[in-house]
Amino acid sequence: MDVSKLKAGDNHYMAYVGPPTQYDFMGATQFRLLSTLGLRANHSLLDFGCGSLRAGRLFLTYLDEGAYFGIEPNKWLIEDAIKNQIGKDLATLKKPHFDHNGDFKTDVFSQQFDFIIAQSIFSHTGSDLITTALSNFKESLKPNGLIAATFIEGITDFDGRGWVYPGCVNYRSSTIRRFAEEAGCFVIRIPWYHPRQTWYVFSKEKHRLPNKAMLRHLSGAVLFEQEFDESWKRSKKIMHLFKSYLKQLLPRPIKNGLKKLMANRVNNR
Ligand SMILES: C[S@@+](CC[C@H](N)C(=O)[O-])C[C@H]1O[C@@H](n2cnc3c(N)ncnc32)[C@H](O)[C@@H]1O
Repeated sequence: MDVSKLKAGDNHYMAYVGPPTQYDFMGATQFRLLSTLGLRANHSLLDFGCGSLRAGRLFLTYLDEGAYFGIEPNKWLIEDAIKNQIGKDLATLKKPHFDHNGDFKTDVFSQQFDFIIAQSIFSHTGSDLITTALSNFKESLKPNGLIAATFIEGITDFDGRGWVYPGCVNYRSSTIRRFAEEAGCFVIRIPWYHPRQTWYVFSKEKHRLPNKAMLRHLSGAVLFEQEFDESWKRSKKIMHLFKSYLKQLLPRPIKNGLKKLMANRVNNR
């Protein structure tokens, strides 16, 4: 099957979780981020909303037996990932723990984690779910642990509730900081590259957050791959930022018209 023809959100394990042509990259960047933040094999990791193990398949290979924990209400995504990506042998060897609750409950494994990752979860949640999730994450985090989560930053706040999918929602950076404060967490926005979202790191203790000197090393740049030039080329970076803000300012019919125009230009090349 040619997965590149599928859209993000389509009913296939490589597409349901995001653009299918970036299934590889979106997993690798999560692994690279946490290993840069100090994830070691003997650490425990909760991959919240682990989907089809885009990142999970890399974490699983790296972490010690029993150290990977995933929460994912769509069980079929994990089953398809084990069948098509990981194989039963690796699952038997590494003994990952999975739970399928959809209530944002993270105490289901009765343990605290060194790291919690929530990639592209808060891009689909109303503030009610973010508040619940962050306070549960905090309870499930070791005193010295770190939470890495993505948000879509915007110039306004989504004011709905519940789970929004495959549509996306955005929040102002000041609102994201307020979510952290309300959950009793410290937070910092990090410059780690993401094609559509922004990474934030949360902790229970202020000194655990990366400091200024460390932030320089959290770029997430990808070299020699044109698709990700915006991760390090200044001019492309600025254009990327400009486009994402413009997208929010333009009314939907104009946005759709421009999208069509761009698609035609690409197809005509
Ligand atoms: C955009 S995907 C991201 C998946 C994964 N984090 C990744 O980066 O590959 C969002 C995931 O959240 C899952 N999800 C939906 N409702 C959830 C809930 N209540 N708790 C946890 N995950 C949920 C979806 O099934 C989907 O796999």
